[in-house]
Amino acid sequence: MTAYQQLQKTLTDSTHTWLVTGAAGFIGSNLVETLLKLNQRVVGFDNFSTGKQANLDEVRTLVPARQWRNFRFVAGDLGDLKLCRRVCRGVHFVLHQAALGSVPRSIEDPLTSNASNITGFLNMLIAARDASVRRFVYASSSAIYGDHPGLPKIEDRIGGPLSPYAVTKYVNELYAAVFGRCYGTETIGLRYFNVFGPRQDPEGPYAAVIPKWIDAMIQNRPVHINGDGKTSRDFCYVANAVQANLLAATSRRPKAVGQIYNVAVNERTTLNTLFELLRTRLAPHYPHLGSYRPTYRDFREGDVRHSLADISKARRRLGYQPTHRVDQGLDAALDWYRAHAA
Ligand SMILES: NC(=O)c1ccc[n+]([C@@H]2O[C@H](COP(=O)([O-])OP(=O)(O)OC[C@H]3O[C@@H](n4cnc5c(N)ncnc54)[C@H](O)[C@@H]3O)[C@@H](O)[C@H]2O)c1
Repeated sequence: MTAYQQLQKTLTDSTHTWLVTGAAGFIGSNLVETLLKLNQRVVGFDNFSTGKQANLDEVRTLVPARQWRNFRFVAGDLGDLKLCRRVCRGVHFVLHQAALGSVPRSIEDPLTSNASNITGFLNMLIAARDASVRRFVYASSSAIYGDHPGLPKIEDRIGGPLSPYAVTKYVNELYAAVFGRCYGTETIGLRYFNVFGPRQDPEGPYAAVIPKWIDAMIQNRPVHINGDGKTSRDFCYVANAVQANLLAATSRRPKAVGQIYNVAVNERTTLNTLFELLRTRLAPHYPHLGSYRPTYRDFREGDVRHSLADISKARRRLGYQPTHRVDQGLDAALDWYRAHAA
């Protein structure tokens, strides 16, 4: 039995209270769904800046009614410290996902990203500390690696940040470490690498590549590849990210706490390969994709050429074992993508 299977069994028999910030977003709503299905009590917190009520409505349809009753939602902003304190009351574990994602968004408007991702983060950390929560797990990002050329990415070898977004996530890690030192707050940071899966928003200028391409393919619009298509990423199915959060929150190993972990698969997929993985899965349902080809254009400024995670630290200290490689994740999410194509 894996550490995660063991944990799921334990949790089902013992109910705790979890705060999921960013609950109406992509990763947050997947955390809410999993926790409720494991008989946990969940408080969701979100200001709907990028999250959607529809995500919560969907979770409601996927969770038995008796478990859905264990969910309480509070609409509000991380900037409101009083509200942050309120949502932390009686909470055992915080899974802090709320932030403004997207590198280009932060380049266009650094102040707004700073407000949610740094001031908002600090508010949550203070509220969690004062409520004596057992552990504060938070979403960091592979953007932290910045201009460090090393591959695969190892947690303690980071470069200079390449965007305001990366700065915000780096500051989160610094604050978390300092709260550990100054106040004994137990924190764990998870550096996500290109997470994908159900409820990831395909729309808008800051959409992630997988939902954006699937939408374009289904609607027979052009798929643009920036550069030669040999750029690669370590795509991580959302179930793996959920697993990492639950293991991080509940680990009893002192060596696991106060740490940062890569959350990915350690699998390199080029954009050309990704295109084919998507096309071959969708083509049986959409005949126009039989002869469909991507459109190549210039490299996008600031894009990292390759990103690949070393996940041995999470394996060793948390017992993390990803359940889905990229192809398995795409298979698992295919029906959702087809049902939700705009
Ligand atoms: N998806 C990825 O590939 C990825 C990669 C690295 C890091 N991350 C991080 O993971 C977390 C979740 O990302 P996601 O992909 O689910 O994004 P998302 O945009 O779907 O979810 C973020 C949620 O946070 C909420 N939010 C933002 N600012 C808020 C504020 N000030 N107050 C209250 N709620 C606020 C949004 O409304 C949204 O529901 C973020 O911290 C993001 O930076 C994601």
